[in-house]
Amino acid sequence: MKTTISQVPEHIGESVTIGAWLANKRSSGKIAFLQLRDGTGFIQGVVAKADVAEETFQLAKGLTQESSMYVTGKIVEDTRSPFGYEMQVSDIELIHEAKDYPITPKEHGTEFLMDHRHLWLRSKKQHAVMKIRNEIIRATYQFFNQQGFVKVDPPILTGSSAEGTTELFHTKYFDEEAYLSQSGQLYMEAAAMALGKVFSFGPTFRAEKSKTRRHLIEFWMIEPEMAFMDHEESLEVQEQYVSFIVQSVLENCKLELNTLGRDTTKLENITAPFPRISYDEAIDLLKDKGFDDIEWGEDFGAPHETAIAETYDKPVFITNYPAEIKAFYMQPHPERPEVVLCADLIAPEGYGEIIGGSQRIDDLELMEERYEKHGLTGPAYQWYLELRQYGSVPHSGFGLGLERTVAWLSGVEHVRETIPFPRLLNRLYP
Ligand code: 4AD
Ligand code: MG
Repeated sequence: MKTTISQVPEHIGESVTIGAWLANKRSSGKIAFLQLRDGTGFIQGVVAKADVAEETFQLAKGLTQESSMYVTGKIVEDTRSPFGYEMQVSDIELIHEAKDYPITPKEHGTEFLMDHRHLWLRSKKQHAVMKIRNEIIRATYQFFNQQGFVKVDPPILTGSSAEGTTELFHTKYFDEEAYLSQSGQLYMEAAAMALGKVFSFGPTFRAEKSKTRRHLIEFWMIEPEMAFMDHEESLEVQEQYVSFIVQSVLENCKLELNTLGRDTTKLENITAPFPRISYDEAIDLLKDKGFDDIEWGEDFGAPHETAIAETYDKPVFITNYPAEIKAFYMQPHPERPEVVLCADLIAPEGYGEIIGGSQRIDDLELMEERYEKHGLTGPAYQWYLELRQYGSVPHSGFGLGLERTVAWLSGVEHVRETIPFPRLLNRLYP
């Protein structure tokens, strides 16, 4: 019977066939240990010379890394293996013999691995990270569906920019100019006025000349937008959402977290509520921590965020940033118009900002003022003003960067390992 490695627990004591690749191998005169993978998981196949045909044993001993095959054998429990099972192989049918697979079990440099990303994805560590990414996506849909949100898909090709014009990817759109979306937010605001609570999940593009462990050129964002919700209520949704994905990963990715050597004690306490500090308090905190140069009005860089995050063992919201350093659409604070009703959520352990969000300006006149100040004109932006013309309501939303969240939960240092095919400043291939 054909099965997958993920399903072997249902077949203890039975003989099954698995389509698999050889990840690694050890053999002696009498026995060969095959590390098999089939995409759903990893399992050890034991080939004993005494128990199989001589040609099967010779085939097993000569198998090369990443060769593909159908392996048949009996599933037994094995407490020594992290997976808990092994296969006592009785037969092997070779499908394809791989020659000179470039990624050997020895250490390789990052650039070499990145050049071979199409193959590197097969490794145990990368497999675990992709499974965690998948779990975060699955939990995201579960959370927002349970909370009554509707999934809405904003366009990728757009005429308007949500987050400023410096980082746009330009492309021709017949005779017009278009951009690749930096954020679906403006469209999600329109969708919230039609459907109440909405969320999107899709790729976004930023031509940022940043070469850091936190920046990708193409990254995926989850963007919820909620009508009749103020900033405070939005923070509650954010902390509940983030807690839900962390607890889902802890629950459903035990094997993967173990493979990655992730210290899960640092994740277990990630439950709502999260601490909140204002931008003003953050400035004071940074000065206390020896950042003497930082002045009120400046944006925070990675070292600042890391220093603030170190003060807490949960993600921390930094609220009410100066309007000058934030996007045009953010609602001013009612008593202090120089700051806006916004928050960045900073992950623990130095993984940086994982969410940016705010209440949006709902007053038409104020939005028109902002348009003037930021030089936003033409049909690309006109429709967004109209949302304030017909039954405008207080509304809030946020964007969670998927890759930074995957990096944090997986405990991997750099976001390049959190997306199947990273687009980086100097990398468009593979
Ligand atoms: O803070 P940002 O720029 O916010 C927005 O785009 C809002 N329009 C979202 C909204 O309110 N609907 O980006 C949101 C998040 C960041 O907190 C970060 O996690 C991630 O997107 N992000 C990046 N991730 C990887 N590489 C980059 N270059 C990123 N830029 C932002
Ligand atoms: Mg931001």
